[in-house]
Amino acid sequence: MAAPRRPWWAGGVLYQAYPRSFADSNGDGIGDLAGLLGRLDYLRWLGVDGIWLNPTFPSPNRDWGYDVSDYFGVHPDLGTLEDLDSLIAAAGELGIRILLDLVPAHTSDQHEWFLESRSSRESPRRPWYIWRDGADEQDSVFGGKAWTYDEPTGQYYHHLFLPEQPDLNWMQPDVRDAFDEILRFWFDRGVAGLRIDVVHELVKDPPSQSNRPEIHSVLQRWRALADGYDPERLLLGETWVMDLDELASFYGQADELQLGFNFPFMFAGLDPVALADVVKRTEEVLPAGSLPVWALSNHDVVRFPTRVCDEDDAKVRCALLALLTLRGTSVLYYGDELGMRQVDIPFDRVRDVHRRDGARTPMPWGDVEWRNPWLPLGDNLASVAEQRADPRSVLSFCREAIALRGSRDDLIAGAYTPLAGQTGIWAWRRGEGTAVAINLTDSPANPSLEGDVLFSTKGRDDPSRLEPWEGVVVALT
Ligand code: NOJ
Ligand code: CA
Repeated sequence: MAAPRRPWWAGGVLYQAYPRSFADSNGDGIGDLAGLLGRLDYLRWLGVDGIWLNPTFPSPNRDWGYDVSDYFGVHPDLGTLEDLDSLIAAAGELGIRILLDLVPAHTSDQHEWFLESRSSRESPRRPWYIWRDGADEQDSVFGGKAWTYDEPTGQYYHHLFLPEQPDLNWMQPDVRDAFDEILRFWFDRGVAGLRIDVVHELVKDPPSQSNRPEIHSVLQRWRALADGYDPERLLLGETWVMDLDELASFYGQADELQLGFNFPFMFAGLDPVALADVVKRTEEVLPAGSLPVWALSNHDVVRFPTRVCDEDDAKVRCALLALLTLRGTSVLYYGDELGMRQVDIPFDRVRDVHRRDGARTPMPWGDVEWRNPWLPLGDNLASVAEQRADPRSVLSFCREAIALRGSRDDLIAGAYTPLAGQTGIWAWRRGEGTAVAINLTDSPANPSLEGDVLFSTKGRDDPSRLEPWEGVVVALT
């Protein structure tokens, strides 16, 4: 029997681009799809396999694209459907896949479905959203209550996030059918997969609503649909749960999501015990044949160099080395490869309802300046142009780490085996012939590895001794 084909994302690196902040083609201060297309050569040079774009759909932007008013279009700030087609085609030529961000749990209150739903209790779309005669005390994620009273029809509707983000009723079969059509529309256009927003809270039947069994039937249905394409389309869930068994539940029996984001890893800090524990347990709980997915930053949390690395590039390199040498799929948030820090946003420039702007600031290209950027740029980081020209920069380091990963089968497909070591060192083997050891302390350490150093965060080549905050990849002998 032929071995099962390895999916393109196995051992791969995905790059999360926040479209409004990545690259601006027309000088209006807002990044756009044509700008991203113009930077594909950079992403190819970096060595990524795919790009996940934060929502690209028309939206009133109350939650910056996570309030979708049309699932079949492109936000005019970002370009047109033709621009997206061109991006998919141009990226495809370079071997880079495009993933969109599907927001199925809620729509914008301006979506025609909701306008119809709220128009009367008799509307055929009424049951597409969650309406009740009375409200409980549940809070929304962004503050305020999760229920809003609709005066004309005398009922409350449910919204886990803003009142302008009414929750769809996934107990309603028509809603499921409508989303099948949306998935097919994008998959047919060549979209390689979807990151799926708040998938852990998709199906609700308030007041009790966490990880309902019905979510899994929806995921099985989407997986069957995704598997019907060649190559199979990727379903990458925003599985924001802190329990690893619960995370594993979203992989089903390897028949639901192919990948679910690992938030316990993102929040383990640079603590060697916590990191080793999360990774070991993740490897244990996922269904056989499934892959973990690792990320350190995203558009919702403080950037990792600020959050866990004290803005110290030695620590940033250690974190990136771990990210890029674990088994599975690794996701870089745009700017991670530069060691990009969280930016302090002056009060009068805050745009986001939840004040996440500091993690969403424009990419500092350096060769082209942003004109009137929608958010201010940070001023404490060398630009892409400067870092590209410097072989000792974080960017050059990150690119080399990605290249090493791609060139070594152990790092792509080898099993993860924890290695016991000195306190403060996080060490593991990949496959039979490769080891990684990272000294997450302020003191030198002895990792007791024998072999040749393939790569060091400090450019050293001694497998028996690690400097403070040094990580190495070793070819074992
Ligand atoms: C998760 C998204 O990542 C976040 O940006 C958004 O605000 C919420 N879901 C609501 O859609
Ligand atoms: Ca623009």
